[in-house]
Amino acid sequence: MVRFDPAEEAHTDRDHEIASSPFERYNSVRRRTEWLTRNLTPEDQTAQSMPDASPAKWHLAHVTWFFETFLLTPHLPGYKPFDPRFGYLFNSYYEALGPRQPRPQRGLLTRPSVADVMAYRAHVDAGMQRLLSSGDEGLGDLLDLGLAHEEQHQELILMDILHLFAQSPLRPAYAPPRSAPSVDEAGVAAFVGFEGGLVEIGHSGEGFAFDNEGPRHKVWLEPFSLSDRLVTNADWFAFMADGGYRRPELWLSEGWARVQAEGWTAPLYWQEGEGGWHAMTLNGLRPLDPAQPVAHLSFFEADAFATWSGARLPTEAEWEHAAADPRLHQIFDVRWQWTRSAYGPYPGFRPAPGAVGEYNGKFMAGQFVLRGGCCVTPPGHVRATYRNFFQPHQRWMFSGLRLARDGV
Ligand code: AVJ
Ligand code: FE
Repeated sequence: MVRFDPAEEAHTDRDHEIASSPFERYNSVRRRTEWLTRNLTPEDQTAQSMPDASPAKWHLAHVTWFFETFLLTPHLPGYKPFDPRFGYLFNSYYEALGPRQPRPQRGLLTRPSVADVMAYRAHVDAGMQRLLSSGDEGLGDLLDLGLAHEEQHQELILMDILHLFAQSPLRPAYAPPRSAPSVDEAGVAAFVGFEGGLVEIGHSGEGFAFDNEGPRHKVWLEPFSLSDRLVTNADWFAFMADGGYRRPELWLSEGWARVQAEGWTAPLYWQEGEGGWHAMTLNGLRPLDPAQPVAHLSFFEADAFATWSGARLPTEAEWEHAAADPRLHQIFDVRWQWTRSAYGPYPGFRPAPGAVGEYNGKFMAGQFVLRGGCCVTPPGHVRATYRNFFQPHQRWMFSGLRLARDGV
């Protein structure tokens, strides 16, 4: 489970880096989404495997609806929506914009077809080309948001297709297997000390960031240590062999309830069979590589492992303060790293007025922050201040952990 096909990805990545004009940047992100779904059949793109996941076809349309709703309709004079009924189908959660298809029933949308959704994309692309060539300054922030939004859905498409394919007895492979892992191999973990003190975290205003990354503010950190690498599959085998999933004393109460209710005995997608442990991946069912960082953990599993290790999860402020330290490995784009921090507003946070203010702020209850991006996060999407968030039982993300300890 490493970034798949970096070679194949190269052309789109480079496009992205050199793209300079707003429309070139727009085009590069839009084409990458289509490139990611190029080998999915219309059937693959229509099924929904669980309420938390969405069909690829829905993702392709929803990100398009976002540009139509927040950029074209308000800002391009004379713009005609492709189909006025699509607002109901592809509004995800914006209460200010009216009712919508219930999330668990997105997989029932056999119409519009994939071909119709691609025509919708082309219609909105044509509108965006007109809007972005009109030289209307002041749309930059909304364009950046729309592009970062589509990139978030690029990752969701891959998470969701893996979950869907894992339900199939055929265990389909999204992409062919590759040989050489691109993640640097883990050695023996060492703890790296940090003095802490009064530090600043959060986005300071240079370049794009989501609203939840700011305001930048001061935080007091007691001395702490972080592991210089992520927890591996080998580490996880040791936890399992020591009864990790059978010992309630290691678990938060809600986590232990999940272990029992859902029969958890290993991370999501792991299965034991002839020839040992395997995991379902985007490259199909593969033998588990002990040296790779563990993936597809809930917050509860990450926390139980840390307790078993005599350690704890880092706070998001510790993680961000340490992220630039050269002694640490596997900081970005390997596994989303669970933190012990509840997802909440930074001091002074105010959501934007209107529907777009529903983007992040209203989800600040009952979730935990993850940092660092993962192997299926679009290249260049994350930063040190980036705050991802999920509910503590969710585990279809490419989520792992890095251990922390009190003191240096
Ligand atoms: C930040 C990944 C939790 O999946 O709802 C997509 C990303 N926000 N559209 C989510 C998102 C708006 C968000 N997560
Ligand atoms: Fe969205």
